[in-house]
Amino acid sequence: MNLKDTIVTIPNFPKEGIMFRDITTLLENGEAFKQTIEELASFAEEMGATVIVGPEARGFLFGAPVAAKLGLGFVPVRKPGKLPRAQITEEYSLEYGTNTLCIHEDALKKGDKVLIIDDLLATGGTALAAAHLCEKTGAKVVGLAFVIDLVDLKGKEVLKDYPVKTLIEFEGE
Ligand code: PRP
Ligand code: MG
Repeated sequence: MNLKDTIVTIPNFPKEGIMFRDITTLLENGEAFKQTIEELASFAEEMGATVIVGPEARGFLFGAPVAAKLGLGFVPVRKPGKLPRAQITEEYSLEYGTNTLCIHEDALKKGDKVLIIDDLLATGGTALAAAHLCEKTGAKVVGLAFVIDLVDLKGKEVLKDYPVKTLIEFEGE
């Protein structure tokens, strides 16, 4: 099936001028959700991933099922103040201000081959920060996969050093 048909667009959410691409309608559709997980899992296998990393929150929705399907571990990248043990942090810039992401320092190790999975590639800031976090642990990032690419925001250019897979593209619409 055409996964793009399951994404609903909400104009002017969460603020004026933003076209919000809603993945909840894909998740509600069992056939679409299954196909999405299968396509992401195929890429993980192709890249030889040994562990899946997903950024909070929407990265959990797709990363964890892919990991379980392949019998791989899943490592969450979280927002500050959520992880209970020793962690590594990475700060990155937003249009206004900064964000920080965190990972348990012992969650990955040298020799691990990481595939990062998130719902959406926009500017690429979240994904690049997640990749840097993984690399700080000594692991190798073998690729990044996203359900949706907002092509106009050129996130793929930010991630040019890595193999990137996206399932649905929105461009000039
Ligand atoms: C959204 C989305 C991606 C990120 C993409 O997450 O889920 O993680 O933005 O944007 P970028 O490519 O410009 O970094 P958000 O931080 O809104 O939070 P959520 O996943 O917790 O809903
Ligand atoms: Mg997110």
